[in-house]
Amino acid sequence: MSEEMNTDQPILETRALGKRFSIGTRFSSEGRRVVHAVDNVSLTVRRGETLGLVGESGCGKSTLARCLVRLYDITDGQLLFEGNDVTSKSLASLRPLRRRLQMVFQDPSASLNPRRRVGDLVAEPLRVHTKLSGAGIRQRVAELFELVGLLPDHVVRYPHEFSGGQRQRVGIARAIALNPDLVVLDEPVSALDVSVQAQIVNLLADLQDKLKLSYIFIAHDLSVVRQVSNRIAVMYLGSIVEEGASEDVFATPAHPYSQALISAVPVVETTPSGRRKRIILSGDVPSPLKPPSGCRFHPRCPVAQDRCRTERPALQEHKTGRKVACHFPTI
Ligand SMILES: Nc1ncnc2c1ncn2[C@@H]1O[C@H](COP(=O)(O)OP(=O)(O)O)[C@@H](O)[C@H]1O
Ligand code: SF4
Ligand SMILES: [Mg+2]
Repeated sequence: MSEEMNTDQPILETRALGKRFSIGTRFSSEGRRVVHAVDNVSLTVRRGETLGLVGESGCGKSTLARCLVRLYDITDGQLLFEGNDVTSKSLASLRPLRRRLQMVFQDPSASLNPRRRVGDLVAEPLRVHTKLSGAGIRQRVAELFELVGLLPDHVVRYPHEFSGGQRQRVGIARAIALNPDLVVLDEPVSALDVSVQAQIVNLLADLQDKLKLSYIFIAHDLSVVRQVSNRIAVMYLGSIVEEGASEDVFATPAHPYSQALISAVPVVETTPSGRRKRIILSGDVPSPLKPPSGCRFHPRCPVAQDRCRTERPALQEHKTGRKVACHFPTI
C-alpha cells in the first residue's frame, strides 16, 4: 500500500448525481419530455464494503448503476472515483477506470453474446484491455473459471448450454477478469431459482474476500440485500430516502417507505415484539415524468401531512451514519 493512499477515502462517491432522459421527438404532438430517472443522489462506497441499494421496480436503480460505471453519461452532479472527478471524462480517458469498475447484469442471457463460446466471452476484456499473449489469456481464463466454480472444459460451450446459475458465473468471471476494485451488481440473482440464488450469493461473498472487492448490490428482494450488505440505501422515485448500517435500517427503519418495504420481508427469527405488521402500500411508483409535488412519496405515505404535499424533505443525517429524507421520521 502506498504511503499517500488514504484508506478512509471512499472508493466511489456521488455528489447530487442526476440522470435525465429526454424522450419523444419533435414530431410527436407532446414534444420532448424529460424523465428524471435519478435525482440528486449523494452516496459513498467505502473500500471493501457492500452497499445494498433497494427499492421497487422503476425507482431508478439500474439507471444509477449505469451512471456509476459510466455506461450512461451523467447529466447532473458529480461522480468521483478514489477522489478523482470522473463525471465527464471522455470514453478514451475512461479506459483505465473501466478496468477497475465493473458491472454484473441481472439477466446473463441478455448480456452474453449467444454465438460466442464462453471461454471467448471471458477472454474478451483481457484481449481489449491487457497485453497478455494468447497463452497468457488462456491461462487467465482457466484461473477465472476455477475462481467462479466452472470446469476447465466448459470454455468451449455456448451460453445456452448452461443453466441460469452457470451463466451468471460466466458473467461474474467476465466482470472480475481485469481485477476490478468495485463491482456494481444489478440484481445479480433476481432471475435465478431460489436454490441457485444462495450459491451465487456465496460465490460473490467468497470473491469479495479473496479479491478485496467493494460491491454495490442492487436488489428488490430485501432478504438477499440484508444478508450481504454492510450498509443500505433505500431509493424511491430516483432519490435516496434512507441510508444507514444494514442492521440498523432493518431493525428500525425510519422512513415510512423503508418501513413498508421491510414490513413485507418474512421474519425468520422471532423478535420480542412478536410479529411485524405488514404495511401495504397503495398504488405503484408514480411516473418520473410527472413526479408528485413536495415529498415524492406523499400520495402513498400512510402518515403524510399537509407540509408533505408542498415541501420536499432533504436527506439529512439524524444519527451518525443514518440519513433520512422525511419531515416526520421515526428516529
Ligand atoms: N433509456 C431510458 N429512456 C427513458 N426513460 C428511461 C430509460 N431508462 C430508464 N428509464 C426510466 O427511468 C425510470 C427508472 O428506471 P430503472 O433505472 O430501470 O429502474 P429500476 O432499475 O429501479 O427498476 C423508469 O421510469 C424508466 O422508465
Ligand atoms: S415527508 Fe411526509 S409524505 Fe414524505 S415520507 Fe415523510 S411523512 Fe411521508
Ligand atoms: Mg433495474
